[in-house]
Amino acid sequence: MSLTSLTDLEGIRARHLPRIEERLRPGELARPSQVLVCTGTGCASSGSVEIYNALRQEVRERGLDVTVTRTGCFGFCGAGPIVVVHPGAVLYCGVKEDQVRHLAERHLEKGRVVPELLYREGETARSFLFEVPFFARQHRVVLENSGLIDPEDIEEYIARDGYFALAHVLSGMTPEEVTRTVSASGLRGRGGAGFPTGRKWAFAAVEPGPKKYIVCNADEGDPGAFMDRSILEGNPHAVLEGMAIAAYAVGADEGFVYARIEYPLAVKRLEIAIRQARKLGLLGKDILGSEFSFDVDIALGAGAFVCGEETALLNSAMGLRGEPRVRPPFPAQAGLYGKPTVINNVETLANVPAIIRRGAAWYAAMGTERSKGTKIFSLAGKIRNTGLVEVPMGMPLGSLVYDIGGGPPPGRRIKAVQTGGPSGGAVPADRLDVPIDYESFRELGTIVGSGGLIVLDDRDCMVDLAKFYMQFARDESCGRCTPCRVGTAQMVEILERITAGAGTLEDLDELDALAGDVQEASLCGLGQTAANPVLSTLRYFRGEYLAHIKDHYCPAGVCNLRVH
Ligand SMILES: Cc1cc2nc3c(=O)[nH]c(=O)nc-3n(C[C@H](O)[C@H](O)[C@H](O)COP(=O)(O)O)c2cc1C
Ligand code: SF4
Ligand code: FES
Repeated sequence: MSLTSLTDLEGIRARHLPRIEERLRPGELARPSQVLVCTGTGCASSGSVEIYNALRQEVRERGLDVTVTRTGCFGFCGAGPIVVVHPGAVLYCGVKEDQVRHLAERHLEKGRVVPELLYREGETARSFLFEVPFFARQHRVVLENSGLIDPEDIEEYIARDGYFALAHVLSGMTPEEVTRTVSASGLRGRGGAGFPTGRKWAFAAVEPGPKKYIVCNADEGDPGAFMDRSILEGNPHAVLEGMAIAAYAVGADEGFVYARIEYPLAVKRLEIAIRQARKLGLLGKDILGSEFSFDVDIALGAGAFVCGEETALLNSAMGLRGEPRVRPPFPAQAGLYGKPTVINNVETLANVPAIIRRGAAWYAAMGTERSKGTKIFSLAGKIRNTGLVEVPMGMPLGSLVYDIGGGPPPGRRIKAVQTGGPSGGAVPADRLDVPIDYESFRELGTIVGSGGLIVLDDRDCMVDLAKFYMQFARDESCGRCTPCRVGTAQMVEILERITAGAGTLEDLDELDALAGDVQEASLCGLGQTAANPVLSTLRYFRGEYLAHIKDHYCPAGVCNLRVH
């Protein structure tokens, strides 16, 4: 069945909406009718697929009128596997397969909550998902459907207004109006550099020629980052819809998602989504009865960090060596097979449908003067609530870490938060009042980056951290240009010397000088930003470097120093 009009979409929405709306109603216990099981990678790795299957079997055997639905990530990964029962949104955490029988009997059959599986803060048990502070303080735009719908069922996405933005664009907006709307929203690229999305589209739109491409960058190579993976696992259609809208705006008829091969579930769900969208005529020829045609394919990347860099990505997608090239020409002018190509990050594209549906002004009202909207972060490290969090730009970083993340584990003290992965830096604990936005982070010597946040405490050594990231940059350097290839290796040697207790004060000057050289003379972003973790730890934690050098002592007790 191919959909040919808005009315067709509305028909699907009307059929599925009551079921989805029931999942949004907080806190009223009634006869259970739906169970949602997170089958995102985090929960799946601790057995949630088995829990999903066991729950289906229990429901069947007991003859219950309850639907069991798999979802993408709820965000609360550290407390997984997550199971939520509706109506009422009763949240169960850390569910084990051998507890499923009890849960089915007690809650699904008898309608009574299972207290031992509820989320707890100290002595207090929280029954309802919407009461848990982790969720209550977030503002979900991109993640609004993640954990709410079945990502393998396009009709559930349509029930949440999915593909209505595309329908709206095709039925009443010119390509220029679409680009203007995205520009007016203030959306900036979420892949790291924060480039204005509308401006990038406008560059590609004015390029002549019938053949253009949209590429979605789903490479996500930063250690500790899993935002893009979770979006694709939890709500893949939002990315496809965003790509189709981008394609309409710039005049492209073909798109690729460049996804890591290490993301099998994301790739599988994307494949299913593409198949389902094609079947309903939401991808392919003459979409929704219009004259606009656009289709999407997947290109698999083999997991080299540098292949996330846009020109390296293009080379890799064309079957060449994944090495960056000199810009200009920019991909918007000459990209895939020499044709104008827009490359956008997964989260960037997933923002687009909501911007079109709700308007540029709605989006621009969230955030700060120059950083609009929301941003997703993956919270990892020494924090109680590890997981995926979406907050409005402008929120103080400390609120995210303490109010949503729950602060450090008992008895520990946060020392710093590493933002921006290997291209970013450490924000010290006493600067966590910094608002989350591109400019404020830059002033502190770090970047928002793609959204990896690693919380460090008094048992983490900042010199060791800098060494870890520098080793990562050295290992992932493609070797094309000397400053990056040789400079990162030399910086690693110095850091190894310092953490072994054999460093000198001259080594610190040498680190500083090398950092400047690698930054300035490298061809691509990998080399240009590789020194950031070293520079920021030198800026805020110089004392730790000096303790290693002068006292042969690692204050955090991490480095195995030999006394010289
Ligand atoms: C070494 C390196 C790795 C990168 N990895 C990614 C990545 O995994 N995902 C991503 O979206 N952008 C990545 N980027 C940024 C992209 O080059 C590009 O700026 C981005 O995909 C553009 O999309 P946006 O404007 O929507 O952010 C990387 C950049 C560099 C220098
Ligand atoms: S900066 Fe590093 S990763 Fe980038 S092109 Fe040069 S050698 Fe390759
Ligand atoms: S993977 Fe289940 S909550 Fe994140």
